[in-house]
Amino acid sequence: DYVIVNGNLIERSEARLDIEDRGYQFGDGVYEVIRVYNGKMFTAQEHLERIVLSAKKIGMELVYSVEDMKKQLTELIEKNEVKLGTIYMQISRGVSPRNHPYPNPVVPHTLVAYTKEVARPIPNLENGVKAILKEDIRWLLCDIKSLNLLGNVMAKQEAVAAGCYEAIQHRGDTVTEGSSSNISIIKDGKLITHHADNLILNGITRRKVLEVCGKGNIPVVEEPFTLSDLDAADEVFLSSTTSEITPIVEIAGKQVGNGQPGPVTKKIQALFDKEIE
Ligand code: PDD
Repeated sequence: DYVIVNGNLIERSEARLDIEDRGYQFGDGVYEVIRVYNGKMFTAQEHLERIVLSAKKIGMELVYSVEDMKKQLTELIEKNEVKLGTIYMQISRGVSPRNHPYPNPVVPHTLVAYTKEVARPIPNLENGVKAILKEDIRWLLCDIKSLNLLGNVMAKQEAVAAGCYEAIQHRGDTVTEGSSSNISIIKDGKLITHHADNLILNGITRRKVLEVCGKGNIPVVEEPFTLSDLDAADEVFLSSTTSEITPIVEIAGKQVGNGQPGPVTKKIQALFDKEIE
């Protein structure tokens, strides 16, 4: 398999990274996961614009443009002959003797990208998954797709240890997002999902969901909802690049609705499927 390291397409075994890379030592960088369907990147523009924005929010001005990155990633997919999979890419603040302040002068950022074959999660899409509830203990810049994922990782682990797929996080009474996904609820035919602010990552899949709801005449409200709204919801689902639109059929041991994926979620799944064809 080939990978990209700083603009070079090389064999994975040839890739070398410094132990004083700030991504490795401080989690000082940003990342994206992009889906590949039919050998083509899905919503590449949105993902690449988001990584530029994430970088900017942590004071990194990227040398690569969105177009540059798209071109490099397209080459990578073609080289690896990925038909159905993902691209992982991350950009760190670069290599410098370990010291908390940003390197001054600025050093070259470290960009790496690689691909993976990943199937669509068909059983989960059809049957739904279980979730736990978890206090959101993360920092207050969750809009940045930062390499610092310890809060997310610990939340996910708690879910997995409980035999569940995802942790639905909440700050006090307000539901924010999953450990690696956004959360939406359906109540009386209407979709409710947390608005895009500093408490959630504005997921590209989340945006697609809102877009297809527009096309499918499903009313949407972007506003915070509470744990009791979640409890009273007719349907609940999570969305992410790899999980797509996955129904949540059980939360903290309690069935959502009748414990089956609901009709509105299924309609959104069908509308989403049309987008990726
Ligand atoms: N996770 N919220 C968080 C905290 C996430 O990590 C993700 C994505 C999302 C959904 O974003 P999108 O629809 O753009 O994938 C929301 C990726 C897939 C990951 O870390 O693997």
